[in-house]
Amino acid sequence: MPQKEVWEREYKNPKLVTKFSEPQPFIRKFAKYIRKEKSWNFQDLQVLDLGSGVGRNSNYFAHKGARVVGIEISATAVHVAKLRAHEQGLEVKYVCGNFGGELPYEDKNFQIVLDVTSSNSLTDAERKVYLQEVCRVLDTEGIFFVRGLLKDGDKNVKKLLEQYPGSEKDTYKMPKMGLEERVFTRKDFEDLYGVFFKIIKFEKNSSYSVFDGVPYKRNFFIAYLEKK
Ligand SMILES: C[S@@+](CC[C@H](N)C(=O)[O-])C[C@H]1O[C@@H](n2cnc3c(N)ncnc32)[C@H](O)[C@@H]1O
Repeated sequence: MPQKEVWEREYKNPKLVTKFSEPQPFIRKFAKYIRKEKSWNFQDLQVLDLGSGVGRNSNYFAHKGARVVGIEISATAVHVAKLRAHEQGLEVKYVCGNFGGELPYEDKNFQIVLDVTSSNSLTDAERKVYLQEVCRVLDTEGIFFVRGLLKDGDKNVKKLLEQYPGSEKDTYKMPKMGLEERVFTRKDFEDLYGVFFKIIKFEKNSSYSVFDGVPYKRNFFIAYLEKK
């Protein structure tokens, strides 16, 4: 890990990652929260999208007027994201890089940091750096949005952990694709992220992950975090 090659292969011959260019409903809900509950203007916001993929969330926030930076480890995905932004007349700064290391941004630079199912494949060591770095670059009043894989109550996860154990706690290695993914119990998430952040919302959300054409029901969590 960070499994750059696995992701690169995936974007060249997609088995898991969606090719969609529209944000998922929970991102639209988050944008509504920003506007209605926080009363923030998108034009005033700097957004950092970790693992921006083909740019569906970055482009969505840019379309709303925010200044967006997307960091993505796959050069192929960055290329697609740039093309899509260009086609829509959007200016987004897409950078090919690893967010499991130091981030090349000033302290408190961003009002929003997004991690939409992107940090699952970090190692424990990388996750420590990522948490410190997100906390550093997030504005004092900023919000860190995290969507991740929830272990609690997920039968498919139980099978994956038993049949394809990964190299670290609560990881499995996805068959065929070879990606190692980390799942979290709510307690583990709170213990780890709670060192740096105050959890202002944590909700469970089930949906289907399509892998190799087969849909699997999976549990996800969605968390809104603020700096402590
Ligand atoms: C499941 S996809 C989600 C993509 C995007 N966030 C979305 O919601 O459409 C995870 C993305 O994170 C990227 N990624 C994983 N680990 C990364 C890392 N350490 N640094 C940068 N990008 C990473 C992958 O290449 C992939 O594009």
